[in-house]
Amino acid sequence: MDEAKLREIPLFGKLSKKERKLLALCADEIDVEPGTLVCRKGDSAHNLYVIEQGTAKVVRDEQYLDELGPGDFFGEMGLREGAPRNAHVIATTPMTLMIVAGPAFRKLERDHPALASRISVTIDQRRRWLEPVF
Ligand code: CMP
Repeated sequence: MDEAKLREIPLFGKLSKKERKLLALCADEIDVEPGTLVCRKGDSAHNLYVIEQGTAKVVRDEQYLDELGPGDFFGEMGLREGAPRNAHVIATTPMTLMIVAGPAFRKLERDHPALASRISVTIDQRRRWLEPVF
């Protein structure tokens, strides 16, 4: 994919041009139709997805959790935790997605502690929805 596109994604804001080029070389890009089930709850996690264009909804057991849009990422929880997908992610409009495979994701996190902690903060926020409210 094109390195210039990575410049517009906040998660990759601190990467140098050289690092963005390397990441662009190993990342894939897909277009999906509205209604596509991009992540299925219970499936094994192999990729991180970053939204370039379009929107998706996050749903768990019929419960709507969130709407994600350009610049947002998903699939990080299963990858980070070596756990199955904990929710469905379904395209609500035509989408263009960047796909980062597990090994590239792990290298990114190793090389960029700030990026890794940004992902940790997002996981903490998303995880709150998993906890029972008393
Ligand atoms: P993962 O569990 O790998 O696959 C489903 C994804 O949905 C999950 O990673 C997160 O990226 C995303 N997700 C889960 N819960 C929420 C939430 N409460 N808000 C936004 N996104 C979520």
